[in-house]
Amino acid sequence: MAVTIKSAREIELMRESCRLLAKVHQELEYAVKPGITTLDIDRLGEKLIRDMGCIPNFKNYNGYPASICVSVNDEVVHGIPSDTRYLEEGDIVSFDAGLIYKGYHSDAARTHAVGKIKPEAQKLIDVTKQSFFEGIKMAKAGNHLYDISGAIDAYVSGFGYGIVRDLVGHGIGTHLHEDPQIPNFAQKKRGIRLEPGMTLAIEPMINMGTAEVEWLDDDWTVVSRDGSLSAHYENTVLITDGEPEILTLY
Ligand code: MF3
Ligand code: CO
Repeated sequence: MAVTIKSAREIELMRESCRLLAKVHQELEYAVKPGITTLDIDRLGEKLIRDMGCIPNFKNYNGYPASICVSVNDEVVHGIPSDTRYLEEGDIVSFDAGLIYKGYHSDAARTHAVGKIKPEAQKLIDVTKQSFFEGIKMAKAGNHLYDISGAIDAYVSGFGYGIVRDLVGHGIGTHLHEDPQIPNFAQKKRGIRLEPGMTLAIEPMINMGTAEVEWLDDDWTVVSRDGSLSAHYENTVLITDGEPEILTLY
């Protein structure tokens, strides 16, 4: 599938889809506290999305059973919400959420602290978020796709963390996952040339330990192989003639 360039009208729809998703993430963040379950987060997120007149794009995607991916501690991504999984003080929790507005998809992820967490856990969250911002400094028309990947890698490597390689970012638009794939680690080639009107979901996933991941028996939940904490930060961004627009920021 070719990389799509969005028209002015499509960009407006992407902007609105992403603006609504940013509000969902804001509400989910307010809900984080010890004692709630990961299913509470999913229920709240799905209600917020549906009350906006939108559709949760993750629900039933390749059979994924929920609207919000909720991944705790060593869970990297795609954790399945459960009414027996309680958030506890000291946990870190990642929410990955997306929605469809008038046929246009948005996708974003955040990692939050549950109550008071260890400084090293907070540092992992902060570095993961900053790695996204380092990456999008390169997200300019005329640059190449893997300039983004290289910038994320160069920044994160200095901390000795493991950059997850088995999962990558992606184009987004009338489909949740469009070309191109966007690795979060340096590539030998330059990749495609970035053009105005491309909308990309850039999403570093960073482990405190090694980069290796494995899948649990539920066939969804991705965990770090060494059991170390993992953080995720994702926004849907628009490539423009100038600076990129981060569409899913509140
Ligand atoms: N944000 C996730 C991604 O980009 C989408 C998760 S799909 C789901 O891959 F099925 F797990 F929800
Ligand atoms: Co994504």
